[in-house]
Amino acid sequence: MASITAGESKAQVAAQSRAAAQPEVQVAAPNRREFLYYIWGASIALLLGQSTAGLIWFALPRFAEGTFGGVFSLAPDRLPLPATAPANVPEGRFHLASAPQGVLALYGVCTHLGCLPKWSETNFRFECPCHGSKFELNGAYIEGPAPRGMDRFRVTLEFADGTQATTDAAGGPIPLDGRLVTAIRVDTGDLIRGT
Ligand code: FES
Repeated sequence: MASITAGESKAQVAAQSRAAAQPEVQVAAPNRREFLYYIWGASIALLLGQSTAGLIWFALPRFAEGTFGGVFSLAPDRLPLPATAPANVPEGRFHLASAPQGVLALYGVCTHLGCLPKWSETNFRFECPCHGSKFELNGAYIEGPAPRGMDRFRVTLEFADGTQATTDAAGGPIPLDGRLVTAIRVDTGDLIRGT
């Protein structure tokens, strides 16, 4: 029991007694192994978060349907009659062509320096106004400084018989073989280099 000396109040003595009665609390510092566990756990969580964000990013469509970079759904009457002038689809920056070999969507930008070739009804071919490159109805190179034929977009056609066909990896035309087209989709996010 603490005795009260001169100059000490009863309250001071009581506080000293309480302090002496309380056990000393020791906080254990995390050791090296625990610290490494924390770092490891945080790294795993970060990696999982990044992977999930990446999956969501790629799952979301980048471009809305009907805008350049996305898919254009066209009514079958947009398809020109075989071996007639191509249909210009300016919002999609392509020409829909019914070449003798089949259907193609030709990117409307010249493969030389990026001008916009126009269809010449007189000469029945695409002609670039900038440096005179010329291309056939199916986009094949004819002459001029362009290094290759016109680039293409991937087309999917649906037919009245329930079948469908898609542009091959080389960007070749889709033959109709007498089938009636009921739906047309052009993917302007899928550019195929001309040859
Ligand atoms: Fe077309 Fe040069 S940009 S020929």
